[in-house]
Amino acid sequence: MSARLSGRVALITGASRGIGAAIARAMAREGATVVLASRKQPGLDEVRDAILREMPDATVFAHACHVGQDDAREALFAWLDEHVGTVDILVNNAGTNPHFGPMITVDWGAWDKTFEVNLKGPFALSRLMAQRLIQQKKPGAIVNIASVLGQGASPLQGVYGMTKASIISMTQTLAIEWGGAGIRVNAIAPGLVETRLAGALVGNDEITRRFTDRTGSRRIAQPEEIAGAAVFLASDEASYITGNVINVDSGFRIG
Ligand SMILES: NC(=O)c1ccc[n+]([C@@H]2O[C@H](COP(=O)([O-])OP(=O)(O)OC[C@H]3O[C@@H](n4cnc5c(N)ncnc54)[C@H](OP(=O)(O)O)[C@@H]3O)[C@@H](O)[C@H]2O)c1
Repeated sequence: MSARLSGRVALITGASRGIGAAIARAMAREGATVVLASRKQPGLDEVRDAILREMPDATVFAHACHVGQDDAREALFAWLDEHVGTVDILVNNAGTNPHFGPMITVDWGAWDKTFEVNLKGPFALSRLMAQRLIQQKKPGAIVNIASVLGQGASPLQGVYGMTKASIISMTQTLAIEWGGAGIRVNAIAPGLVETRLAGALVGNDEITRRFTDRTGSRRIAQPEEIAGAAVFLASDEASYITGNVINVDSGFRIG
């Protein structure tokens, strides 16, 4: 078995299902100790148990954390310090999209929630990780899950698209600011993936067809198809890659 992430601790947010669960499984297969985080403990426990059934020798922790809440993020890192150790790899994957509709109708509650979970959470977790790495003079890798909707107009998903555009900007700035400390920061921009978050889109044949018509494969992705890029960006194979966005979108952006 290859083990590209052996000896590393990987914290994956939004790991109770979908893309985050797929990334956690793929990183465990590559030998990482994985820490699963999302709001609800039962979903995390299910993913942990499924990974352990497949890989009895894996080391998997599951810890609930609402990434949009200051106290919850601080508590997660205090727990990590005590029970797990330094986080070498952070996958900022947890995301939300509460407002599907035109920008003119968005309410501030949905606005705040989208920015807190999709942007403030990833920044704050990245900083909690980087402070420790810099203090301990250790390298690290951050992988932010952005979206093709952060790379242009995203009608009906405008606030979500703004947070994803911002996370790409954040990825670029942190890559330069933290590069000297050996911390690489990259992003993945998935196309349409079959998950609960995308349920309103993948459940609508017309929207799905409009999307898939622009892809090379003429189909939507499965969560597992996003995981390989995350493993690669977190691994030493990507040692000279930072501040980049890998589109895992079957050509959607150029189609
Ligand atoms: N699916 C797509 O087409 C697509 C395309 C491009 C980008 N993405 C991005 O991919 C990432 C993963 O989404 P997904 O499609 O895999 O969705 P998903 O299957 O619905 O999973 C979302 C995950 O985020 C967690 N989560 C939600 N709010 C949270 C919070 N406040 N704090 C901590 N965890 C939270 C959920 O668990 P709990 O309910 O337990 O909190 C769940 O584990 C998101 O950043 C999304 O924007 C998705």
